[in-house]
Amino acid sequence: MGKITIILLLSSTIIAMPMVMGMAEGPKAVEEWFSKLRQKKEKVTRLHFFFHDTVSSTNPTAVTVAQANGTSKSPTLFGETVVMDDPLTVGPEHNSKLVGRAQGLYSSVGLENIALLMTMNLVFTEGKYNGSTLSLLGKNAALQMYREMPIVGGTGVFRLARGIATAKTVFFNATSLDAVVEYNVMVIHY
Ligand SMILES: *[C@@H]1O[C@H](CO)[C@@H](O)[C@H](O)[C@H]1NC(C)=O
Ligand SMILES: *[C@@H]1O[C@H](CO)[C@@H](O)[C@H](O)[C@H]1NC(C)=O
Ligand SMILES: *[C@@H]1O[C@H](CO)[C@@H](O)[C@H](O)[C@H]1NC(C)=O
Repeated sequence: MGKITIILLLSSTIIAMPMVMGMAEGPKAVEEWFSKLRQKKEKVTRLHFFFHDTVSSTNPTAVTVAQANGTSKSPTLFGETVVMDDPLTVGPEHNSKLVGRAQGLYSSVGLENIALLMTMNLVFTEGKYNGSTLSLLGKNAALQMYREMPIVGGTGVFRLARGIATAKTVFFNATSLDAVVEYNVMVIHY
């Protein structure tokens, strides 16, 4: 009897409690969320932010962790692999309000043309998206004006997300290789 009451209490708590700002929930709550999927409506959310890729300076947020023999002689830096924890901000300035971080890695995968393989999580830290993530996996032809990359999933408020990120470089220092990139993200989620 006591055990049943506890279970009922627990499950009603789970039902009543909305997700706390994208904080990871237990398997029971995730199961509950999936069981209600048919009643949920898909919505489209647009996100806009600036990505700061700082490879120079004494405190870089993106560091080269691997390269091939020959990468430095390659015109496309073929084989270079960079791990990043890059700030995402509201505006293009470095001191602009922080809304999240891009954590992941990119590799130079084009032998003849500049093409980066981007594999990163956009980890949001502000407002209703705080604690939620979007996962991006795509080709970044960094010299093109616009690069379209798929959003392949998400967590928190972005569970089962799919969408498109459009990246445009707004600042690039050819000496330091630091860059600021504008991101527009359109995402479908529940
Ligand atoms: C690295 O490349 C140089 C020439 O580019 C070559 O002489 C050398 O043998 C290579 N080393 C390895 C380990 O492949
Ligand atoms: C985001 O969530 C974390 C963890 O719950 C919390 O510590 C932090 O204060 C929150 N940030 C904002 C801006 O709400
Ligand atoms: C570009 O980077 C170089 C080397 O770090 C630095 O001296 C220069 O001031 C930078 N230029 C701009 C416009 O930020």
